[in-house]
Amino acid sequence: MTSRFFLVYLLSSTLISPTIGGDILSPDQSLTDNGQTLISTGGTFQLGFFGSGKRYVGIWYSKVSVRTIVWVANRRQPITGTSGSLSIKTNGTLVITDENATVVWYSSSRALANPVAQLLDNGNFVVRESGSNSNDPNSFVWQSFDFPTDTLLPGMKLGWNLTSGLNRNLTAWTSDSDPAPSEYTMAVDVRGYPEIFLWSQTTRTWRTGPWNGLRFSGIPEMKTYDKLSFDFVVNRDEVFYSFYVHDASFITRLIVNQSGITQRLVWIEQSKIWNAFWFAPKDQCDKVSQCGPNGVCDPNGSPICDCLKGFRPQNPSNWDLRDASEGCRRQTALDCRNGTDGFVTVSGAKLPDTSSSVVDWSLSLEQCRTVCLTNCSCTAYAAANISVGGTGSGCIMWTTELADLRVYTNGGQDLSLRLAAADLDSESNPSHRRHIVVIIVVLAVMITLLATTAFCIRRRRRKKKRRSTSMSGNISFSERYINEGREGKDIDLPLFDLGTIVDATNNFSVHSKLGEGGFGPVYKGNLGGEQEIAVKRLSKTSVQGLDEFKNEDGERMLIYEYMPNRSLDAILFDKAKAGLLDWRRRIFGGDETEANTRRVVGTYGYMSPEYAMDGVFSVKSDVFSFGVLVLEIVSGKRNRGVYHSAPQLNLLGYAWSLWKEGRASELVDESMGYSFPMAEALRCIQVGLLCVQDRPDHRPTMSSAVVMLGSDGAVLPQPRQPGFVATKGLLESDSSTSKQDSVSVNDMSITMAEGR
Ligand SMILES: *[C@@H]1O[C@H](CO)[C@@H](O)[C@H](O)[C@H]1NC(C)=O
Ligand SMILES: *[C@@H]1O[C@H](CO)[C@@H](O)[C@H](O)[C@H]1NC(C)=O
Ligand SMILES: *[C@@H]1O[C@H](CO)[C@@H](O)[C@H](O)[C@H]1NC(C)=O
Ligand SMILES: *[C@@H]1O[C@H](CO)[C@@H](O)[C@H](O)[C@H]1NC(C)=O
Ligand SMILES: *[C@@H]1O[C@H](CO)[C@@H](O)[C@H](O)[C@H]1NC(C)=O
Ligand SMILES: *[C@@H]1O[C@H](CO)[C@@H](O)[C@H](O)[C@H]1NC(C)=O
Ligand SMILES: *[C@@H]1O[C@H](CO)[C@@H](O)[C@H](O)[C@H]1NC(C)=O
Ligand SMILES: *[C@@H]1O[C@H](CO)[C@@H](O)[C@H](O)[C@H]1NC(C)=O
Repeated sequence: MTSRFFLVYLLSSTLISPTIGGDILSPDQSLTDNGQTLISTGGTFQLGFFGSGKRYVGIWYSKVSVRTIVWVANRRQPITGTSGSLSIKTNGTLVITDENATVVWYSSSRALANPVAQLLDNGNFVVRESGSNSNDPNSFVWQSFDFPTDTLLPGMKLGWNLTSGLNRNLTAWTSDSDPAPSEYTMAVDVRGYPEIFLWSQTTRTWRTGPWNGLRFSGIPEMKTYDKLSFDFVVNRDEVFYSFYVHDASFITRLIVNQSGITQRLVWIEQSKIWNAFWFAPKDQCDKVSQCGPNGVCDPNGSPICDCLKGFRPQNPSNWDLRDASEGCRRQTALDCRNGTDGFVTVSGAKLPDTSSSVVDWSLSLEQCRTVCLTNCSCTAYAAANISVGGTGSGCIMWTTELADLRVYTNGGQDLSLRLAAADLDSESNPSHRRHIVVIIVVLAVMITLLATTAFCIRRRRRKKKRRSTSMSGNISFSERYINEGREGKDIDLPLFDLGTIVDATNNFSVHSKLGEGGFGPVYKGNLGGEQEIAVKRLSKTSVQGLDEFKNEDGERMLIYEYMPNRSLDAILFDKAKAGLLDWRRRIFGGDETEANTRRVVGTYGYMSPEYAMDGVFSVKSDVFSFGVLVLEIVSGKRNRGVYHSAPQLNLLGYAWSLWKEGRASELVDESMGYSFPMAEALRCIQVGLLCVQDRPDHRPTMSSAVVMLGSDGAVLPQPRQPGFVATKGLLESDSSTSKQDSVSVNDMSITMAEGR
């Protein structure tokens, strides 16, 4: 009685497994190949044995009338005959055994105390501790989603766990009846900026292009639908692609089919077919590197391959025979150091292969341009995320040849291609207009300084002359006029007698008075005709004036071309349109005028070393001041400011250190607008540095500085270390003793003159 009961118990517990009807497999059960299956709770998926002749454990849709296998456990280890079984060991290992109880397949996982295996309704077959939450992925010690076959289901990740090195990829079946892996694989390449590639054995056949925030660059038709959305995640721990379905009745999957094509298939219940919603590769240009390095493929072109602008075929005879595999090479080498390179935009592009490119998410597109221009190995850049306000953010930079570049009629994106100046098309240069404005700005400043220089030279000459003739009541006039023939060595200036000026200013009437500056009042006058002038009458109480002019007696006046808008900045702002508002910083906004005025007048920031130290003054001393001003304009920083990256350096030292490292473009004020002509700014920096050379004979003359600034693409000398590169120096304490005027002077040109 007892023994018979015991036998029945034994049979029921070990030989005849309890019926499997639910979604859970526990260690006291096994799933045998006699029609037993697990069915997920919602009835969406089913797990069991399948196959004719060779038997496999797999998962298929239970509601789709055409048997569609989405996962196979033992795709490489089929079982012959129908005596196989699937079970879970007490330590949590899943095993498939054959008729002789030999393990043909097993899952690897860490040991568990009370394991269960469960088929979830999303198609994931998981192993977890029996008491744990089946909705919490962290409780899964093993899951089929981590070992995809050829199918990506909603919520599955295609890609990497970078911590564990798990690489989830899709590999096509060998044939309709053989799930064994074929040569076709779809996998995420995590090198450089990640992309997804299709492989045929070890050859890349197609790539998605980098994710641009909205879609893959190489899938322009990709978009989010009500029922379907996509995600590509790149972070420290993971790089993966995934898609999500927002309507349970929408049945879709992504596969690599036996032809090596990736397809999105959607189930159409009415016609009982899997419809190809999308697939890739599609056309000739989708083939990886169809047109070779630096080639561009246009499926509507004839022939489809072309060289990028500024490039020509590497092997012209093969190219003519439509063999583009060797690609193209540059016509003109990049001219990195000299800063004359520029960019052309390739629109509608599938971004080139990013497996060796770098991404910086912190950069805006404008900064991206700057960084690319500074780095001699940068060949192109593009926005990493085009979804921010349409303009783009983040920076992808290519430092190699551009591989597998193609264009689309619709939906491509912009790629900025770096070219040497000679290969740039000036008409297509979007920065042309600003370019002109920048030249105007710089010229305006230069003219002011030329006037200063001229005045100073005049003053020196007159000092000598005066010693012999002991004149009094001198009036000197400086105007926008250089004698080119003398190459700036000497500048001829007209003289005016006091009477003319008295007439012009209506006897210095209060109505003619424009304002009061640190050195004295400023009057507006008219020399007759069109020529309006501004007259600065140096105040006799001006301490600094006395220092500067202590050998002179009587009236001292500076006469300038009158600027109707009162100050340089005002004029510039008139000319500048909205886009130039950032220039406001560089030409001294209203509230900064006073500070700048005082600096110009009272500090050594603008004085040349030889003048500050030895009192030696020359034409080249003004060139030094000009150089400082140019650098301040470009950088929007004060010479005597302190820079967090180099606290011991002043602007000159900072500019020099950046220049030496080839990072000069970092000096340019970050607030500079998009498509600012970087070559122009770099030339300004170079000229600025040349002007602030320690030795006067290393500085250019004012007139050559003008030519240098204005000449596009001219070869400029390389600057050496400038004078005064440190913020702390022996002059620091001296400067505090120099008298500083508290009265604001609005006209910068007048202020500059007084500095001398
Ligand atoms: C099972 O064992 C028998 C007897 O040793 C052998 O003939 C048969 O080939 C084995 N089956 C498999 C699948 O190895
Ligand atoms: C679980 O037990 C099996 C043998 O029953 C063994 O082969 C496997 O390594 C064990 N797994 C773990 C994670 O301990
Ligand atoms: C990646 O793998 C590590 C180590 O196995 C694991 O701790 C981590 O949870 C995994 N990350 C994700 C997002 O699955
Ligand atoms: C696909 O994944 C497997 C397993 O992680 C790996 O061995 C194989 O190299 C991967 N293939 C590619 C092309 O990444
Ligand atoms: C693979 O997909 C392509 C594109 O949808 C299709 O033309 C081809 O017939 C498919 N191959 C197989 C074997 O299904
Ligand atoms: C850059 O300018 C220097 C002279 O300053 C010249 O020697 C050099 O060839 C130029 N580089 C290029 C690439 O044109
Ligand atoms: C240029 O860019 C490459 C790639 O990011 C980088 O390795 C290199 O250090 C950069 N060079 C300079 C001078 O910044
Ligand atoms: C791209 O920009 C959008 C909008 O700012 C943002 O929501 C998204 O997270 C960004 N994508 C990446 C990958 O940074």
